[in-house]
Amino acid sequence: ELRDDTIIIVFGASGDLAKKKTFPALFGLYRDGFLPNGVKIVGYARTKMDEAEFHKRSTSYIKDPDQSQAPKIEEFKKLSSYVSGGYEDSASFENLEKHLKSIESAYQSKVTNRVFYLALPPSVFLPVAENLKKHNYASGVNRIIVEKPFGKDLDSSRELLGALKQHWTEDETYRIDHYLGKEMVKNILILRFANVAFSAAWDNRSISNVQITFKEPFGTEGRGGYFDEFGIIRDILQNHLLQVLSVLTMEQPVSFAAEDVRDEKVKVLRSITPIAREDTLLGQYVSANGKPGYLDDDTVPPNSSCPTFAATTLWIHNPRWEGVPFILKAGKAMNEAKVEVRIQFKDVPPGLFGNISRNELVIRIQPSESVYLKMNAKVPGLYTRALPIEMDLTYKRRFSDSKIPEAYEALILDALKGDHSNFVRHDELDVAWKIFTPILHWIDGKEGPPPRPVPYPYGSRGPKELDAFVNKFHFTRSSTE
Ligand code: BG6
Repeated sequence: ELRDDTIIIVFGASGDLAKKKTFPALFGLYRDGFLPNGVKIVGYARTKMDEAEFHKRSTSYIKDPDQSQAPKIEEFKKLSSYVSGGYEDSASFENLEKHLKSIESAYQSKVTNRVFYLALPPSVFLPVAENLKKHNYASGVNRIIVEKPFGKDLDSSRELLGALKQHWTEDETYRIDHYLGKEMVKNILILRFANVAFSAAWDNRSISNVQITFKEPFGTEGRGGYFDEFGIIRDILQNHLLQVLSVLTMEQPVSFAAEDVRDEKVKVLRSITPIAREDTLLGQYVSANGKPGYLDDDTVPPNSSCPTFAATTLWIHNPRWEGVPFILKAGKAMNEAKVEVRIQFKDVPPGLFGNISRNELVIRIQPSESVYLKMNAKVPGLYTRALPIEMDLTYKRRFSDSKIPEAYEALILDALKGDHSNFVRHDELDVAWKIFTPILHWIDGKEGPPPRPVPYPYGSRGPKELDAFVNKFHFTRSSTE
C-alpha cells in the first residue's frame, strides 16, 4: 500500500532521463491523484542552479499544449525542491541529509519513507548507492530504484549486483525495465491466461514462429558515445525484448504476486540456450536520403563495428516450445516507430484449401496499442471463397474513454507501493546475461576479429538480408504485414 509522507529523491535530476521520463511521470501521478499524501520530491544533481531554474527544467517535458494543466503544474512545483552536490563526496550527502530531515520534521508520521531514484550513468551508480546507505538511510522504509545498464555481460553484471548487495537488499531494490510498465506488455498475461481460446493454442502444436520487433525511426543523434559502448543488443534485446518474450512464454503463475510471476519468468528463461552466431544477423545504418550514417555521428569512434540493428533467434527447450523459433529484432534509424509481437500459427493442412493464409496474432505494443487476429472468412456471396480478414481490437476505438498510462507512471507507483512484480529480479538478470553473453563477446571482438555488421540505409526496413533470415525460421510474409 502507499505510505503517506514519502520523499522521492531523484538523482541525476538535470539529466535527460529525469527530464523526459521521471518528472513527467511523477507529474502525471500527482495530477491524477496517485501520489501519497504529503509527498515531497527532491531533485539532486551536480549542476548548480536555483529552485526556479530546476522547476523550469523538471517540468519542461510535461505535455500541456493548451495550458490546461498550468495550475496543476504550479502545485507540482511546490512539492519539489533541489539540492546540488557531488556523487562521490560525503559532505554532499550530509548536506542532502539535512534537507531531508528538515522536510521530515514537518511530517505527522514518525516513520520515514524515502524512495531514491537513480537516473544516473553507470560510472556514478555505485558511489551514490554506497553514499546513500551511509548517510541517508533512515530508520523507516528505504527503497532504491535503479536503471539499466546493469553491467555489460554476465561477469560485470554479477560484479555490479554483488557490490550493490553490500548496501541494499533485494527487497529494497527496484530494477527498472520500463517495458514491464507498458500497458500492452501487461496485457499479455491477461490475453493468455484469461482466454481459453488462446491458452489452448499457445504451444508448438499450433504456433510456427514468433517475432518480437522494435523499430525506431531515428539514429543515435549525438548519443553515440553511450550507444557505441553498448550496441543494440544490450540497449534493447537483452532487456526489453527478452522481457516481452518471457511474459509471452512463461507458464501460468500461481498468482499475480511478485515472486510467483518472477519465478515463472526465470524458469522459462533458464530453458533458453545461449544464442548461436548462425542465428544472428547484425546491421549498421548508413547515410541515406540526406540522413547521416552511424559512422557519421561525431560521438561514434571511426570504423566502429557496433550493431545498430540485430535479429537473433532464441530457442526454448521445454515441451511447450521445443522447435518454435523466437525471433527478436531491433533497429535504430528504421522506416517507422513500431514495437510489436507477431505470433504466426501453423499452416492450415492442405486439402480443402489451396494456398490459404496462416492465422496471425499481432500485439501492437506501440504506437496505437492494439491486438488483432488475422483469420480467414468466407467472402459473402453465392460462392465459396476464403479471404484473410482482421479481427481488430484497437485501443483508441474500444477504450476511447480510458487513458493509457505511461510506463514510468505505472512503475513508479508500483515502487511506491512496494510491489516488485514488474521489476527485474537479480536471478532474472543473471539468466538474461547468460543467454546473450557469448554472442556479445563475439561482437565485442573478444573471440577474434569482430563481425562486420551489414549496412542498411537510414530509414529502411533493415538490412536486405532480413527477409531471407526470417524465412529461414518458417516465417511466411503476408500481404498485410
Ligand atoms: C531505452 C533505450 O531503454 O529504450 C533507448 O536505451 C530507446 O535507446 C528506448 O530509445 C525506447 O523506449 P520506448 O519506450 O520509446 O520504446
